[in-house]
Parts: sequence; structure tokens; C-alpha cells
Amino acid sequence: MNKKEYPKRRRHLMQMMGHNSIAILPAAPILIRNRDVEYAYRPDSNFYYLSGFEEPEAVVVLVPGRRQGEYILFCQERDKKMEMWNGPRAGQEGACIDYGADDAFPIDDLDEILSGLLEDREKVFYTMGFSAEFDHKMMEWLNQVREKSRIGVHAPNEFVALDHLLHEMRLFKSRSEIKIMRDAAKISARAHCRAMQECKPGMMEYQLEAELLHEFAQHGCREQAYQSIVGGGDNACVLHYIRNDGELQDGDLVLIDAGAEKQYYASDITRTFPVGGTFSEPQKAIYKVVLAAQEAAIEAVIPGNHWNDPHFAAVRVITKGLQKLGLIKGNLRTLIKDEAYRRFFVHRTGHWLGMDVHDVGEYKIDGVWRLLEPGMVLTVEPGIYIPRGSKGIAKKWWGIGVRIEDDVLVTKDGHEILSDGVPKTVDEIEALMATSD
Ligand code: GLY
Ligand code: MN
Ligand code: MN
Repeated sequence: MNKKEYPKRRRHLMQMMGHNSIAILPAAPILIRNRDVEYAYRPDSNFYYLSGFEEPEAVVVLVPGRRQGEYILFCQERDKKMEMWNGPRAGQEGACIDYGADDAFPIDDLDEILSGLLEDREKVFYTMGFSAEFDHKMMEWLNQVREKSRIGVHAPNEFVALDHLLHEMRLFKSRSEIKIMRDAAKISARAHCRAMQECKPGMMEYQLEAELLHEFAQHGCREQAYQSIVGGGDNACVLHYIRNDGELQDGDLVLIDAGAEKQYYASDITRTFPVGGTFSEPQKAIYKVVLAAQEAAIEAVIPGNHWNDPHFAAVRVITKGLQKLGLIKGNLRTLIKDEAYRRFFVHRTGHWLGMDVHDVGEYKIDGVWRLLEPGMVLTVEPGIYIPRGSKGIAKKWWGIGVRIEDDVLVTKDGHEILSDGVPKTVDEIEALMATSD
């Protein structure tokens, strides 16, 4: 990430907050996996977006107009012994020199100092209700300020959800953010290609997952943006399938939904392909409907269109396709109006993508689907799922679950598909799979 972005973001946010305000953002907590084993630490996206600071046990405070400095970073103190166990810390000096803080204090002094920073501020911006512990502390600090009212200190009157301003900023990606997201998508695309080439009947789903992780790491991404989904056959019909412990069967499709995280930016790609390298006729028929729906939806990703337009495009194509295959019956308009497709296509066509896989940003403004604008990144991911045992559905369709997902940037003139490095037509997929030995 271009280091100049962080101060720019902080300035922008402070401008919107206005004077007499303060913003407070705690770092993400360390999470325990079991006993004394921790999960890999991942900074909170809002916190990192403003600070570029990766250590836990820290709090960012922004105080627009504060004479002694507007950006204060509370963080762990340097500690030779602890650093020998857990690695180097920036300390307060590093916070100022390397991370641009105007002022830095030890995290252990937070209680002592924070109430003072709240004095005579009118509005407090923070993410309420996210951490009960932090909410509680906030009230304690507030009460400390209130206790000083008799000596003329004014306590804040307003608590404002920080999310609204910050999430609107995060929704529009800068040039350097787009570059990182393009890289992340490229790496994920390579991983999906590798999975197609390495896939063999008899493999376990987690072995295919290992191929993806291998490719991510070989290209600099140690983390996935979310738990990969690798679902063979009927498992593809479980939308959040992450067990990945089934055996891949010849004749089945496998659905892979996986994306690398690069510098805390997500990619999110889904491809569905035949375990044995060749689609059966029913699989092909469903696949082609989903692909046509995805292409129609991507075509609708242009500035000025509403958020819902790609979804609506996908719904039309899927409904028409299901009708043509005899899976739903009736008049097209009525079928769409009655949402008949929802039996097979239960989720929406996409979501914002950024530092979080289901990224922040409003989808509606004043109750209306918002307009797409350049710099927004979204996924386009229609699907059709027909689990085994589906009542009233011919057996030949059972166990077919297809989703195709790409990451799409809205540009000035239309869109750019960030994840187009992996095949998605039937012929392209079969051709790529045929190249493996
Ligand atoms: N991988 C999560 C999603 O596609 O929304
Ligand atoms: Mn997605
Ligand atoms: Mn996905």
C-alpha cells in the first residue's frame, strides 16, 4: 500500500467529522483457538485502513484540531523480554516515526489519558456495540469527564456511529487499493486454474484446497480472504460448505469458492467444474444457464446503473433458463414476479468487495438501491443448486450445484473484471483440464 494513503484517509475522515469531535478505534482482539494457542492475528479492517498498523493491543484516536497533534496512537511499549518471545514492537517512538502518529502513548495508559481527550469534545465517533468490553470502557471514560462538569469541563453529548463515514470512504477504492485487489484476484485466478489441472477423482476435497493454498502462498498470500469452499457433488449445494472432507467422485461437479487475501484485501472467486474433466449433458445445461446469467449480470455493471440491476439481469436469465429446462413452469413474467427461481437460486448476485470479503458500504440510500460509481468493487456470483432428493425434480438434475463468481471493478466507462484469469466456458474448462496429466 502506498504509505501516503493513511494520512490522507485520516485527514479526509477528520474533515467529515468536523471540529469538536473525536474518533476512537480499538485494534482487533487476539482470539484464542484452544487453551494457549492463538488464531493468526488479523488487524481490524477499519483500524488498519486508517493506521497501517498491524500490532494488537492498540487504539487509534483522531482528534481534529487538537493543537498538540490530531492523531494519537496507543500501543504496546517496547519490551526486550516480550519482544524476544513474540517479535519486535514499534513502541511509541516507532508509532510516531514509522506510522505518522503525532503523539503516542503506552496502551496501559489508555484509561488515564482517554477521558482527558474526551473533554470539551461534542461528538464521539466509534463503532458502538461491537465489543461489550470497549462499550463499557467508553461509558467509564465518559463518566470520568462528567464528574468534572462542576469545574467547567464539558462532556460529549453525542455518540455517532463511525461506520457511516468510514465505510463510505472504504467503498471507493483508490488506485493503489485497486492495484492490490487486481493482484489478489490474479493470484486467486491462478490458484483456480491449478485446482482444475490437479483435480482427479478419488482426491479428498481438502487436497484440492491444499492446491489452492499452495498457489496463494507461492505468490505471496499466506492467508485466504475467507475459508475456502471445496464441495464435490451434493456438497456444492451447501452454500457455506467448509468441511471440505469429502472424496471427489468421477461424474460429479466440484464447486470451489476461494480467494487469496493480499495486504488485507480480499479476492473472491468461484468456479465449478467436472471432477473427471468432462461435463455431463445435464451438468452442461445448468452450467450454461448460470454462465449466461453471470455474463448478463456483469454487463449490467456500469456506472449509473442501480446496485440491483446486475441481480435483476441474472434473475431474468436464470428464470428463463430454468423454464426452458422444464425445472419451473409457467409464464416468464409471473415466474419472475413470484420469485420462482428462489427454489434454486437462494442468494443474491453479489456484494461489495474490499478489505473484508463482504465489504462495507451501504447498498441502499434513502431506501433506494444506490447507483454504481467508478471505484466500487463488487462480486457477481449467480448460482443454481439442486440438492439430491429435490422433490418433483427429475433425478438427472440431482446433486448439481453451480456458482460462477468474479470480482468486478466499476470503471468510468463500464467495468473491469479483476478475476478474468481463469476460464469459465465449458470448452475452456474442459480444454484446460485436458492439459493435466
Ligand atoms: N465466499 C463468500 C461469498 O462468495 O460471498
Ligand atoms: Mn462472494
Ligand atoms: Mn465467494
